[in-house]
Amino acid sequence: MSFSTRILCIGAGYVGGPTMAVIADRCPHVKVTVTDINAPRIAAWNSTDLPIYEPGLDEVVQRARGRNLFFTTDVAAGIREADIIFVSVNTPTKEFGQGAGRAADLQWWEKTARQILANAGRSKIVVEKSTLPVRTAAAMSRILNSNGSGMRFQVLSNPEFLAEGTAVQDLEEPDRVLIGSEETEDGLAARKQLVDIYATWVPRDRIIESNVWSAELSKLTANAFLAQRISSINAMSALCEMTEADVDEVARAIGADSRIGPKFLRSSVGFGGSCFRKDILNLCYIAESYGLTEVAAYWEAVVKMNEWQQTRFVRNMLANMFNTVAGKRIALFGFAFKADTGDTRESPADAVTRALIEEHANVVITDPKALPNARLDLQDVGQLLAFEEDPYKAAEGAHAIAIMTEWAEYRSLDFRRIYDAMEKPAFVFDGRNILNHRALFELGFNVFPIGKMALKHF
Ligand code: NAD
Ligand code: UGA
Repeated sequence: MSFSTRILCIGAGYVGGPTMAVIADRCPHVKVTVTDINAPRIAAWNSTDLPIYEPGLDEVVQRARGRNLFFTTDVAAGIREADIIFVSVNTPTKEFGQGAGRAADLQWWEKTARQILANAGRSKIVVEKSTLPVRTAAAMSRILNSNGSGMRFQVLSNPEFLAEGTAVQDLEEPDRVLIGSEETEDGLAARKQLVDIYATWVPRDRIIESNVWSAELSKLTANAFLAQRISSINAMSALCEMTEADVDEVARAIGADSRIGPKFLRSSVGFGGSCFRKDILNLCYIAESYGLTEVAAYWEAVVKMNEWQQTRFVRNMLANMFNTVAGKRIALFGFAFKADTGDTRESPADAVTRALIEEHANVVITDPKALPNARLDLQDVGQLLAFEEDPYKAAEGAHAIAIMTEWAEYRSLDFRRIYDAMEKPAFVFDGRNILNHRALFELGFNVFPIGKMALKHF
């Protein structure tokens, strides 16, 4: 079969895998190859047991794999063949040297640039899919174009806005696709090639074009604004608990204002996920590097509020369980950073687990999808920890349950059965406000939601 365009994606993770699967599914005329240095990950993409869980992803991969979607570890061959190379490698927070704990660690990014240069053989379009500090495209372009090879590379910024758990839906029907390029003749031509691919299934008015720097900075800004909404409502949740206001009622009232809007106002034990914290800290680092200390401090407060909310949650547990959880079994329902994913990166459940273990609690973790990752994340934590697939077994003999992830199945559990099997007094700390608090209270539980008055029998 002959293809009109050959795309390579370097990095077969949470972004590279689903994004490329949807492009291949929607564009049968385009050959899409996804490559990674992680061989087991590629093997999993080629199997029936995909390396990540996303609703709808299995079907998309099955339709396209072997037709115009391929997964391989041969990065060099992939680079040689491609017309357009997406780079979707990890860009975590730097853990060493200058900017440690804040700046983005660009070592994988830079290695990829050099790999492309070594294997390209001809001019190509390179697309930044990873989230990167603003002006990274300039560095990429310099590495690729200052080598006297005669090849010319156009670097585009096409940040990804998908959320985990809804990745396939977000990719199939995005609110917008953003494509930034140099505003030169070659840059605009490269931009058009990418626009044409997305326009196969995305309405044209949802494809936003901009210069490269706006595209790069828009990604960091979007994540900062989203996280800010959560920290804002979480800040109000603490005040609600003091004043008998109900945070869900407040969220509903303010969300009805069309200027504010109803989404992303769910108060919680805190936001998690691989990106909000890292991207905001990176934004702070960039602002500081331009001498904008007030800008950095403003955004850093969003992260600090999130940390405080997690600490506050544990402090609340402790205070209400007679100031000691030592030797008490506590069941954490959910370990994923949100529902419908097995991803546990930066999950608030991790911080809560560690704080409870420090208090010598016996923590048992249950989760429908995230137990394998939970086990890996908590490898360093000792004997006070157990994992249990079945939430009913997890709750047996527990003094308290804490809801850490908003899995739909937790709403329909038989809480009478759970209550009967627990130590008394039995506590529920609902870190996601998903349960029927009044009904639980009537069963005998002492109930502690977020941002609402507690319902206590004593
Ligand atoms: P990930 O860690 O799941 O995947 C990255 C992959 O890149 C890994 O499998 C790694 O082995 C591979 N890799 C690293 N260096 C490589 C190299 N030189 N050659 C080949 N493969 C290489 O990360 P992710 O969650 O997919 O995130 C990727 C980027 O997308 C990050 O910049 C992130 O901020 C951004 N992003 C993530 C999400 C999300 O929901 N996870 C959403 C939007 C944007
Ligand atoms: C987020 C953004 O929503 C995506 O647009 C972005 O592409 C992605 O980060 C990224 O750059 O990685 P994601 O982290 O997958 O996506 O999931 P979200 O739905 O944003 O949830 C993040 C965290 O906030 C979760 O822990 C979630 O439970 C929490 N959250 C979300 C709340 O506590 N309250 C809310 O109202 C919404």
